Amino acid sequence: MYYELSNHWKIPGIGFGTWQIVDQQEADRAIEMALQCGYSLIDTASKYKNEEIIGDALKHTGADREKIFVEGKVWNKDRGFEKTLAAFEKTRKKLQLDYLDAYLIHWPASALFYEDWAKINAETWRALEKLYEEGLVRAIGVCNYEIEHLNELEKSANIKPMLNQVEFHPGTFPEEIYRYCCEENIQMQAWSPLGNGQLLENETVKKIAGKHKKSPAQVCLKWCVQKQVIPLPKSVTPKRIQENISLGDFLLTEEEMKQLEEIV
Ligand SMILES: NC(=O)c1ccc[n+]([C@@H]2O[C@H](COP(=O)([O-])OP(=O)(O)OC[C@H]3O[C@@H](n4cnc5c(N)ncnc54)[C@H](OP(=O)(O)O)[C@@H]3O)[C@@H](O)[C@H]2O)c1
Repeated sequence: MYYELSNHWKIPGIGFGTWQIVDQQEADRAIEMALQCGYSLIDTASKYKNEEIIGDALKHTGADREKIFVEGKVWNKDRGFEKTLAAFEKTRKKLQLDYLDAYLIHWPASALFYEDWAKINAETWRALEKLYEEGLVRAIGVCNYEIEHLNELEKSANIKPMLNQVEFHPGTFPEEIYRYCCEENIQMQAWSPLGNGQLLENETVKKIAGKHKKSPAQVCLKWCVQKQVIPLPKSVTPKRIQENISLGDFLLTEEEMKQLEEIV
């Protein structure tokens, strides 16, 4: 299943998270298993300090470049026009790719820490626009952006963000930004869709999973999918990698969706 971004570039409906994968053998096994199971979107970031090993792991699979969707992120210390361009080049080399499918700003500079936060974000975004125009990235977007960041960015941007990756899982439903992105045709992605694993022992999740004869992880991921938000589950465990992409066609009822939303 794919979504179409606002620039008509296609993006897979589920992705594979790579935060905390730090060992080459582990990366090789996990990425190979993920591609075999049918994941094609691989979410990376320079902050995860594993771009080289993920790049090597992708190379070791021999995967056809056109059939995978690789996403990277510029970290906070590299904000600004020139620094972002330099950071992207490092990322591209470490991942051993000619182009990235999506490149995202990892976090907005915010008013809490920077007086000139809007200018910093605008300059970082200008670099992403240049990379996009040069064909070095197929889509550009942001992470962890609130409505005020997006509204401010719009004032200077030539290209609208195509993606916004935020924390999104049962119990954490950022309703305002979700509605805004739906209206503005900005595709959302869900980070920590399993609550970093902690949601899987939740009684509400377990009860709903039991009713559908599915695992708690599958219920959390289906909750994202039914909201048309792309989940990015991470696992290095073969059985879980398979389980997380084998959601099947079961559907959560409206009542169950609401119960999951309201988990505290
Ligand atoms: N943009 C951002 O600011 C941001 C922030 C955080 C994360 N992210 C992205 O989002 C991805 C996912 O988030 P995340 O890594 O925090 O957490 P997650 O995917 O919500 O959960 C991962 C944890 O759950 C376990 N797990 C996975 N599948 C399972 C299953 N079926 N049953 C039981 N346990 C399972 C994993 O263990 P094992 O690996 O041991 O199997 C791991 O400990 C990251 O990897 C990263 O790519 C982005």
